[in-house]
This record gives sequence, C-alpha cells and structure tokens, in this order.
Amino acid sequence: MENRITHTPTGLADILCDEYELKLKIENTAAEVFKERGYRMVQTPTFEYFDVYDAANPTSAENMYKFFDENGRMLALRPDITTSVARLVATKCGDRPLPVRISYRGSAFRNDETFSRARQREFTQAGIELIGENSVAADAEIIEVAIDVLSRSGVSKFQIDIGQIEFFKGLVEQAGISDKDADRLRSIIDSKDFIGIENILSNYNIEDSIKKLLYDLPTLFGGIEIVHNCLKMDSLNERSRNALKNIIDVYECLKERGYENYLSIDLGLIPNLDYYTGIIIKGFTYSVGFPICTGGRYDNLTSKFGRSMPATGVAIGVERVMETLNAENSNADDSDEYVTVALAKGRLAELSVNIFEKLGFDCAEMKTKTRKLIFTDEKNKTKFILVKASDVPTYVEYGAADIGIVGKDTLLESGKNLYEVLDLGFGACKMAVAGPKEMKGKLEGRNIMRVASKYPEIAREYFHKVKGQTVDIIKLNGSVELGPLVGLSEVIVDIVESGKTLKENGLEVLEDICGLSARLVVNRVSMKLKREKIVKIIEEMKEEIS
Ligand code: PRP
Repeated sequence: MENRITHTPTGLADILCDEYELKLKIENTAAEVFKERGYRMVQTPTFEYFDVYDAANPTSAENMYKFFDENGRMLALRPDITTSVARLVATKCGDRPLPVRISYRGSAFRNDETFSRARQREFTQAGIELIGENSVAADAEIIEVAIDVLSRSGVSKFQIDIGQIEFFKGLVEQAGISDKDADRLRSIIDSKDFIGIENILSNYNIEDSIKKLLYDLPTLFGGIEIVHNCLKMDSLNERSRNALKNIIDVYECLKERGYENYLSIDLGLIPNLDYYTGIIIKGFTYSVGFPICTGGRYDNLTSKFGRSMPATGVAIGVERVMETLNAENSNADDSDEYVTVALAKGRLAELSVNIFEKLGFDCAEMKTKTRKLIFTDEKNKTKFILVKASDVPTYVEYGAADIGIVGKDTLLESGKNLYEVLDLGFGACKMAVAGPKEMKGKLEGRNIMRVASKYPEIAREYFHKVKGQTVDIIKLNGSVELGPLVGLSEVIVDIVESGKTLKENGLEVLEDICGLSARLVVNRVSMKLKREKIVKIIEEMKEEIS
C-alpha cells in the first residue's frame, strides 16, 4: 500500500547532497553566464492569480496546480517563470530603457500525466528574457546564451534546433485553414505524428505544393540547406518566405560568432500558435530524450499585462542538464567510434537484417540461434542490438542506439522525440478499427463503447481527437481479436496485414486509420555528431529500396 507519510508524491523529489551540489553548480554556471551577458536576476512569486497564466497560455490551464484564496479567487502554482517576468516587466519597469535583460531561477510546477525522472511535477528553470527588442541579434543572443550555459555546465554533446512559427502560420493562411484546424494540425506536426493530417487537409482546396509542404513538415529537419531549398518554392507567400529568411539571418549571425556546430533546423517545430510569434528553439542532447532547453520569440505576451513589447527568451531545464551529465559520464567510452543500430525483434527482424546485409554489413551472427544481445561488425564499426519492437524508439531517443528500424505503429504509439528519416516500405500493413460485421456503419457518433487495443495511444488519438468520440480504451498486450469474441470490447484497434487473423475469428475491418510500414529513425543529436556515417547509411538504404 502507498505510504503517504514516508514517500513523496510522484513527480516530486528530495534532492540529496551530491545531487544538490551538482544542481547548484549548474544553476550557478547559468547565473554567471547570464550576468556576464548583462542579464539581471529577479524573483517572482511561486504562485499567482490563475488569470495571469491563463491569459498567457490558455491551453496549459489543465496542467496547472490550482487552488483558492480566502475570497474564493483562483490561484495557481507557476507552470513557467516567463509569464511572471513578462508581467513584472510590463507593470514595474516603466522607467527602464529598453531592451530589458532579465534572468531568473526557480521551481515551476506542472501536473503532467507522463512521468519519468526528466518530467518532474516540480522542476527547476534557469532562464533569461530579452524584452523590448525585435531583432535578429536579439534572437541570436538568446541562443548563444543557451549554448554557453550548456557547454560551460559540461554538456558535451547537444544541439539547438531552430524553427520559426510564422512559416507554419504563413502556410495555413495560404491554405485557408481555420484557426481550430490549424491548431490541431500544429499539434500533429509538432509531435511528428501523422494520424489525422489527411483528415484535416482533405476539407480544404489547397494548392498541391503547399499541401505537400504541410505533409512534409514533420520531416523538414537537418542543415540550413532545408531552409534554402524551401525558399526556392515560388508558391510560398510573403509570410512564410519572411520566416525562412529570418531563420537564415539568425543562423548566419550565429555562424559568424562561431556557434554553427551547435545548430540544427527543424521546420516542424511548432509548439504553440498563440504564444510564440517568431524563432523557436529546443535544445536536445545525445542522452536525454527530452528537450533540455526551450524558448523563442513571444511578441504578444507583455501586451496581456498592459504594455506591448517584443520579447524573446530561453529556459534551461536544470534537472534535465543534471540527467544529461550523469548519462554522459556513464556512457561507454567507445560510443563515439561506433554507430549503434537498434533492430526490432519479431515481424520486422528478418527484413531489417536483410537490408543491412545488402548494404554490406556483417549480420551473420544475428541470424544464428544465440542468446547474445549485442552484435559487432568490427569492419564497419557498427554495433547491432536486438530489442523488443516497442523499445526501439526508447533506445534511439536516449542515444543508447544512434539509429533504429521500427514499425510506424510503434512510433505512433510511443510519441518519442526522434527523427523519422526514411519510409523503408517493407512490413507494409495498416492500422484499422475491426469488429464483428454487424458493427459496420454503426460506429459513427458512439461514445458508450469499449475499444481493446495493443495501441491505446493510437486508439485514443483516433477516437477521442480525430473523431471526437469519448469511447473507453482497454489496453491489451496481444491476441486483441479475442476482445469482441469474449465480450471484453465491442471493437478493436489493431494492425491488419494479410487480414487472416480477423477472418479466422469472424471479424472484419470497419474503418481504416492509417497505413503503416517500417521506418528508419535517428537520434536527433547522433544525426549531427555522426552525420557522415548516418547519412551514408540513409543514402544507401534509399538506393536499395528504390
Ligand atoms: C498482429 C496483429 C494481428 C495480426 C494481424 O499480431 O496484432 O493480431 O498480427 O496480421 P494478419 O492480418 O496478417 O492476420 P501479432 O502476430 O504480432 O501477435 P499478437 O496479437 O499476439 O501480438
């Protein structure tokens, strides 16, 4: 039984001496860098009126800790510190010349459903806000400061991904997509998900090249050439064009100052349409799957507090930096020398091994009956690991493997932060809703219904978000077809390959959700640090499957 006297609640942690010293060291390094750059520290309250945070970002309301004061006014623990700093500068710094450079450090609180060490309910942010200047130099400055803090804290392998929200806004404006659909599309693209894109875009009559760009956005990442290539498209409107030029200007500015090696482009980075207004940044490391810093331009925020000023800023996740430093210390010394490939056991295993063999890798040992888990091809300096399919995205996200081959079904279900670089075509099948044939045509609008699936996230995404049906989702680990046969559920969401399993159990496809096949995925930072070797594998695979 849970012991509420001796345990802390999930997501809230005691930090003991050694860890605390490391935490303090990172916070002090950040404070030093901020001070050197002319940022002055402020402190804002740990909780404020709920309305302050709600005005800044209404979509985050559900993740806030809310409570009431003695007069019944709603209060909330701060979900971030930027909002309070924006309020402070808008209301209390009237006499200061602009721009104002402010720094902060402190705890923020979010009631996040998904937990891991890196996603605590209480977490520490050290950050800066540059308020009162809308310029390329200001955007470049916050990226520089973030890079300086991370490298001076001892993080050796990281990259800053740069996007621009106006690029996406320009595309949806041109396509005539409604605000509601644009927000839905944004969240699909930002999470590199594909379910539902077609559903939204098919309602609009969109020019082909723009439609393709919207489809391709989750894959538009890499070097600055991505931006130059997009700019060559004649059909882009001014808004999108200016956004791309803005990325190039910021990039060039940082390049001149010697920061180029830390930068990467991701045009699919679209975290929030209401909040951000220009450049967006996210920092990723080799060994932690979550961003270690986030930020960008937010020119509309301070006006909510009565004084309109352009602004940009970045927040470093202190615990995530700690996590990265610990992981970097424990990583194998030879991890730089080898490329590690994670392959999924099961239906894709043989096909995945085959494609690597065709590329000239030595996979002979993997095909023998062995209990070994790591196979080394010394000649090609490559290590292969064989893991459960659902674990491939995790190994790649955390940099334990640089690349992996995994089914699109597993990727959609895992929702991980990684690059999906190639549709390998094999293992083709589809995700579908299936059930007894009497159910055909009877699913529309039903909410009182049980859906069994090995893929609860996909089922939830499809029924709750795409179709707006709040059905009950039951997670099973296999033989899902049994669900409707024994009365556990009315229908299932599952993979259909040959259709044999459904047929032999008297079930049929009721609705198609999306097509699936094997994908090549890459860790965000490996893509940069081992670029040459990884791009070679990608190019050779492309050739092999064409
Ligand atoms: C998958 C899937 C279906 C079946 C579909 O299960 O969950 O049950 O294959 O293939 P078909 O259309 O060619 O018949 P898997 O073989 O992975 O086993 P499990 O149900 O025990 O997980």
